[in-house]
Amino acid sequence: MKIGILGTGMVGNALGTKLVQGGHEVTMGSRTANNESAQKWASSAGARAHTATFRDAASFGEVVISCTGGMHSMEALQSIGPEPLRNKILIDVSNPLQFNNDGSMVLGFCNTDSLGEQIQRAFPFTRVVKALNTVNCDVMVKPSRVPGDHDLFICGNDAAAKKEVAKYLNEWFGWKIDNVVDVGDITAARATEMMMPFWMRLFQGAIGHPHFNYHIVRGN
Ligand SMILES: NC(=O)c1ccc[n+]([C@@H]2O[C@H](COP(=O)([O-])OP(=O)(O)OC[C@H]3O[C@@H](n4cnc5c(N)ncnc54)[C@H](OP(=O)(O)O)[C@@H]3O)[C@@H](O)[C@H]2O)c1
Repeated sequence: MKIGILGTGMVGNALGTKLVQGGHEVTMGSRTANNESAQKWASSAGARAHTATFRDAASFGEVVISCTGGMHSMEALQSIGPEPLRNKILIDVSNPLQFNNDGSMVLGFCNTDSLGEQIQRAFPFTRVVKALNTVNCDVMVKPSRVPGDHDLFICGNDAAAKKEVAKYLNEWFGWKIDNVVDVGDITAARATEMMMPFWMRLFQGAIGHPHFNYHIVRGN
């Protein structure tokens, strides 16, 4: 499959590397065609790894994954424009985090809006599915990094797109379909993005490392 990854950070690197290892063709996009981190990634990931601008990476992908800094994702996507993303599934992994100088963070917007919704509003002909934003990137690509059953939350307005994404998460990374919890339409991105302040507390405090996850236990 041809996959466009928007983002040259640790998430783009982790997803891109795993997808190339799985036999996919991946283009990592950036603001510039010659981004240093993207080129470093491509030279270590092998012949199926390519680099381009955000726009060219989006045009390349049959599926596009957005993993830019969440307060800048709209800017990155606006530089692409609607056509390269028309009718495609866009998996939005980003969280709109704003970090303070002391290492603490807040969400730049939340509660009555979310990044997932902003993207879907701006790109009405793109099938936006919010997914993977509630786990660390090592866990995204290797769920067995955390023992036992644990869950991913996905949401979006297009039911068929969510089913397709759940299948990709299984095939690409090994997430069990039963552990992919559909939490509803794209407004549910408010909830999954708002899990980040809690995730950060666990990471910086009670757990102390990023290799953990949430699990929903159902009663009857
Ligand atoms: N780290 C994790 O394990 C994890 C887990 C879940 C979700 N997330 C979310 O995933 C996203 C990516 O995280 P990350 O740590 O890999 O990368 P990051 O450092 O948050 O973002 C890097 C990307 O953002 C782009 N960017 C920065 N400023 C920009 C601007 N003004 N306009 C357009 N693009 C801009 C950069 O573009 P250039 O390539 O041009 O520099 C780069 O591609 C974040 O939203 C994060 O909250 C991270």
